[in-house]
Amino acid sequence: MDVSLKKYDTRLLPVNDESLRLAQTLLRAGEVVALPTETVYGLGADAFNEEAVRNIFKVKGRPQDNPLIVHIYDKSQLDRLAAEVPERAKKLIERFWPGPLTLILKKKPQVPDSVTAHLPTVAVRCPSHPGARALLKSGIFIAAPSANLSGRPSTTTAQHVLDDHAGKIPLILDGGPCQVGLESTVVDVSGGHAVLLRPGGITREVLEETLGEPVALGKGVLQPLEDGEQALSPGLKHTHYKPRARVIVFEGETDALCRGLAQAYDEAAAGDRPVLMCMEALCEKLRPRESLSLGKDAQQMASRLFADLRRADELGYGLILLQGVEETGLGLAVMNRALRAAGFETRRCD
Ligand code: TXA
Ligand code: MG
Repeated sequence: MDVSLKKYDTRLLPVNDESLRLAQTLLRAGEVVALPTETVYGLGADAFNEEAVRNIFKVKGRPQDNPLIVHIYDKSQLDRLAAEVPERAKKLIERFWPGPLTLILKKKPQVPDSVTAHLPTVAVRCPSHPGARALLKSGIFIAAPSANLSGRPSTTTAQHVLDDHAGKIPLILDGGPCQVGLESTVVDVSGGHAVLLRPGGITREVLEETLGEPVALGKGVLQPLEDGEQALSPGLKHTHYKPRARVIVFEGETDALCRGLAQAYDEAAAGDRPVLMCMEALCEKLRPRESLSLGKDAQQMASRLFADLRRADELGYGLILLQGVEETGLGLAVMNRALRAAGFETRRCD
């Protein structure tokens, strides 16, 4: 296989009429363009152009067996992608599109196998970010994974995308920092009941309330898969979100957590270059130890986590001691990412 990449003088442009026209021209010509969404930045290409889709995998260094999400402007476009749209999917679409929700649906045969990694289903999302919507309005179907290099923390600013892909793509549309900061919630509605494959900004509790039924948690969402165990979502079995620094997630009640983090920091060798990554209140308590704040609440923690992991690398820290949170509401999504960033290395504080 040819894994060579074209070289580009990558342009980073604010979203405006001119840059959108350029992005559309590039996409129609089969190029890969980075675009903002409300969750994270995406690395987009024309979903019906197999060559362009293959280029996404090359640029990102993504394993071929991990399928992509197709982004659309309006639910009416589902007709080209989905063989059927069950009642359950319709309820979710009515409430959450446009927004940070991806649905797994039975696919139509014409959806390229390069997008779905030969699965019988396709992932579809209708984003709410005005920049993404302006680009999608022309009717193009954009296949896009998160724009990070495979395995690295996701990209929540245009600069992160440039850091990972300078010279490899022609254009990055800058639509500002991503509001949600974690990738979309992924729900499989292709079978007899809804299964949450990736928690995100739309919580399991809100999904259940909307559907009026329980939503099962996909295998591998909060624990590593056992060897040989089948993931419903191929993305669950790959290494994810990892900074260069070693990450350990600390769990427990506030006081015990505070003691555990302090002890781990104080016992770390100076050469480890430890840093605490916790909510603001805990950072305060643990001064003068060095820390990166995750903000005041779960919402801020979600939107800052990936940026802080990247920042820790930039600042040269070697050991990130990360505060865990309760796995309810948005906390489920935060912990799903945190545990993966840590390669599931955790400490229980009592
Ligand atoms: O917020 C988001 O969803 C961002 C923005 C750019 O839209 N995109 C994103 O894409 O996070 P990516 O490729 O990083 O994650 C897509 C996830 C992967 O875990 C993949 O395995 C899963 O969705 N997926 C895609 N198609 C699937 C399918 N047919 N069945 C099950 N899982 C699927
Ligand atoms: Mg990703």
